[in-house]
Amino acid sequence: MRALSSSPATSDSNTVHVDLDLVRRYNQPGPRYTSYPTAPHFSEEVTDDAFAQALSEGNAETPLSLYVHLPFCRSLCYYCGCHMKVTHRPEVIERYLGYAKREMEIAAQYIDLDRRVVQVHWGGGTPSYLTPEQIGDLMTHTRSVFSFDPDAEISLEADPRGLTEEHLAAAADAGFNRISYGVQDVDPKVQEAINRVQPTELVENAVRWARMHGFRSINLDLVYGLPHQTSETFSDTVDTVMRLDPERIALFSYAHIPSLRKHQTLIPEADLPEPEEKLRIFKMATERLTGEGGYRFIGMDHFARPDDELAVALDTGNLHRNFQGYSTRAGADVVAFGMSGISQLDGAYTQNIKGLPDYYARIDEGRLATYRGYEVTRDDRVRRAVIMELMCNSLVLKADIESRFDIDFDATFTSAMEALEPMVDDGLVTVTEDAVRVEPEGRLFIRNAAMAFDAYLNASQKRPLYSKTV
Ligand SMILES: C[S@@+](CC[C@H](N)C(=O)[O-])C[C@H]1O[C@@H](n2cnc3c(N)ncnc32)[C@H](O)[C@@H]1O
Repeated sequence: MRALSSSPATSDSNTVHVDLDLVRRYNQPGPRYTSYPTAPHFSEEVTDDAFAQALSEGNAETPLSLYVHLPFCRSLCYYCGCHMKVTHRPEVIERYLGYAKREMEIAAQYIDLDRRVVQVHWGGGTPSYLTPEQIGDLMTHTRSVFSFDPDAEISLEADPRGLTEEHLAAAADAGFNRISYGVQDVDPKVQEAINRVQPTELVENAVRWARMHGFRSINLDLVYGLPHQTSETFSDTVDTVMRLDPERIALFSYAHIPSLRKHQTLIPEADLPEPEEKLRIFKMATERLTGEGGYRFIGMDHFARPDDELAVALDTGNLHRNFQGYSTRAGADVVAFGMSGISQLDGAYTQNIKGLPDYYARIDEGRLATYRGYEVTRDDRVRRAVIMELMCNSLVLKADIESRFDIDFDATFTSAMEALEPMVDDGLVTVTEDAVRVEPEGRLFIRNAAMAFDAYLNASQKRPLYSKTV
């Protein structure tokens, strides 16, 4: 039976039909492939010197994507899986911003400053917890250090709680043109259980202000699998979000890993929906968003309006993927600032120190704040190209990979082809003499297809750190 069918022709054929039998079979833990290899393979042998070297190797042809991690939040959401810190002390935030600015200056010593910044993303934590003045000041500093492309895509994550129109005005003045709001769920009972009481009126204001101040794209984040959710209650959240009509929607599966995130123990497991109910929520939300909602399923957790540039890029085979998720900006090196930030250069990935005192100490020494990383090998490059083509464009042309890397595709990927056989038998993947194609029916299981090409998974057969798809 077919799990998923999707085509842009009419709103009816756009609907993604979720076959729960297939979902049950393919719903295994696996990486999200925002990079290959993935972060669990980073090693502390890769130091700030290696990062500095990799930065200085980039040339003016390769554009830059800047990520700034702003970890602070006003209160703790019990489900949160991000690197964040609750603080109510303005001086703590002010101090951090001073260090992030200094870090940009340190990195700039190694970067060819003719390189154009085509993308900026502020993630968190809660970037909108900064004051309007701090938003303007941090961006002014960033622009004084780097050269921005006039068409740069500049986005931030924001929390509708505590947000004012002045925040949106300051962000628009600073050049932000995209914003992503955390909604999660509109049901008061769920909100209570996750310690995030957020009347819908706040989200409505946030969306209205963003439109008034000229943001060209609004994303709303939803999370399913939260305590007390059922497919009936979450249907109200889907209704609300569709009424607000954002350009993009992220529908995340709640990753409950209390062993890694202690505060998640504040959510009693007995309150979480049963696995079967969680699957039903996923099915309902996916089918409604792509059916009556008319959203295109981009891949992984992402949906976009058919005229949004992500949907257009999907149709034209121009989608890309980096630590920020799907993007239309090709081949940019991601340089990250702030504690725990992950940089992604062509030849190396690095992650910054996670604790504030250690991060500050490094910057005080005038050094980059790298604490671990990964130097990409030749084999990684080949597999990365295949995995990213699959994740983004559902199609790998064997001749393209052969000419880019001077390899014999079939000889190199014999075991990957064997691993793909169940998906081929289920009609989710087609392998021909020329290509590997993920069929529309297989797009929900795209990371299962990518996993077949992952040398690290196949070597260890252990996936303890990864969450399931649904
Ligand atoms: C870093 S948060 C930024 C949002 C902002 N801090 C706010 O509160 O609105 C980005 C998104 O990650 C998602 N998220 C956080 N923890 C998660 C978890 N444990 N499982 C799944 N998604 C999660 C939420 O949807 C959240 O909006």
